[in-house]
Amino acid sequence: MRRAKISVIGAGNIGGECARSIAMKELGDVVLLDIPNREKPELHMPRGKALDLACCGPVENFDARITGTFEYQDIEGSDVVVVTAGVPRKPGQSRDDLVQINAGIVKNVATNIKQYAPNAVVIVVSNPLDAMVYVMWKATGFPAHRVMGQAGALDVARYKTFLAMELGVSVEDIQGLLLGGHGDDMVPLPRRTSVNGIPITDLLPAEKIQACVDRAKVGGGEIVKLMGTSAWYAPSAGTVEMVESIVRDKKRVIASAAYCEDEYGVAPGQKGKGLFVGVPCVLGSRGVEKIISFKLDETERKFMDESISHVRDLIGVVKRMFPEMA
Ligand code: APR
Repeated sequence: MRRAKISVIGAGNIGGECARSIAMKELGDVVLLDIPNREKPELHMPRGKALDLACCGPVENFDARITGTFEYQDIEGSDVVVVTAGVPRKPGQSRDDLVQINAGIVKNVATNIKQYAPNAVVIVVSNPLDAMVYVMWKATGFPAHRVMGQAGALDVARYKTFLAMELGVSVEDIQGLLLGGHGDDMVPLPRRTSVNGIPITDLLPAEKIQACVDRAKVGGGEIVKLMGTSAWYAPSAGTVEMVESIVRDKKRVIASAAYCEDEYGVAPGQKGKGLFVGVPCVLGSRGVEKIISFKLDETERKFMDESISHVRDLIGVVKRMFPEMA
């Protein structure tokens, strides 16, 4: 049987860590693609990184071919393409500040994916996520179920981490979900969060839960302040969780940025006018195989509407840059 082929566009911090984790889990062969360094044309960073990663194989006991390239033809036949190309945040920057530069990069990457990997499922990681996944969808013209964004997997991971720290229990025993846009825009769902089925609202006072929610919202910014650039371990872990569900057809339910119209009242009855926002998705070999909808209470509805409106504003910026995406 053929091994899955997973291409990672952008071989920087997140891309490199994604490649490592995909190989460690033996999810398939990995192609790492990046662009040449204009100031140092003698370097070939993706090839170097791929070689370094390949040499972990005998120690970590994995069989995976890892190659590094500047050429899009090498992504041909990819089952999944992960897109981390773009610039990360610097201290003082919001994710939205990246839109002008990253939208152009993601559009260029999308055009190449359309040409060289027309059957792939695409996971976008570049920020501002909810807008970049829209650019990917428009520029590839792929069916919406084959384009999604990674944000919820990371936000949920941060949320669970802070709750586990507060409760003094294993992270494995926290179940929870978030909706909406990435980070600051996420919609918390404390009434749907539990420790092995015991609602956290029975275990923690409201202000402690709120503190965990707030820290998860700005968790990315907290790390940017500490490191001078954005995080990569947890973003990669969240991304590879999605890759695994797709290549192993596991049908995991993972909060992902997926195309919604009627779902969660994003654009009811307005065909083609929907947006990508974080919602619970069943991820399998066909990509987003199902969006799970449930009724929100009044507060959740308010947060969700704010989140949708923020994503819509950002898409407005994208549409002004690329009128053909309107
Ligand atoms: N094609 C391919 N790769 C590109 C392109 C392009 N057109 N433009 C930039 N890149 C590459 C860069 O050369 C770099 O190696 O994308 C890589 C990005 O890596 P980092 O700078 O290390 O950034 P990283 O932390 O991995 O974040 C990447 O994901 O979460 C988001 O906000 C984050 O937008 C950022 C992206």
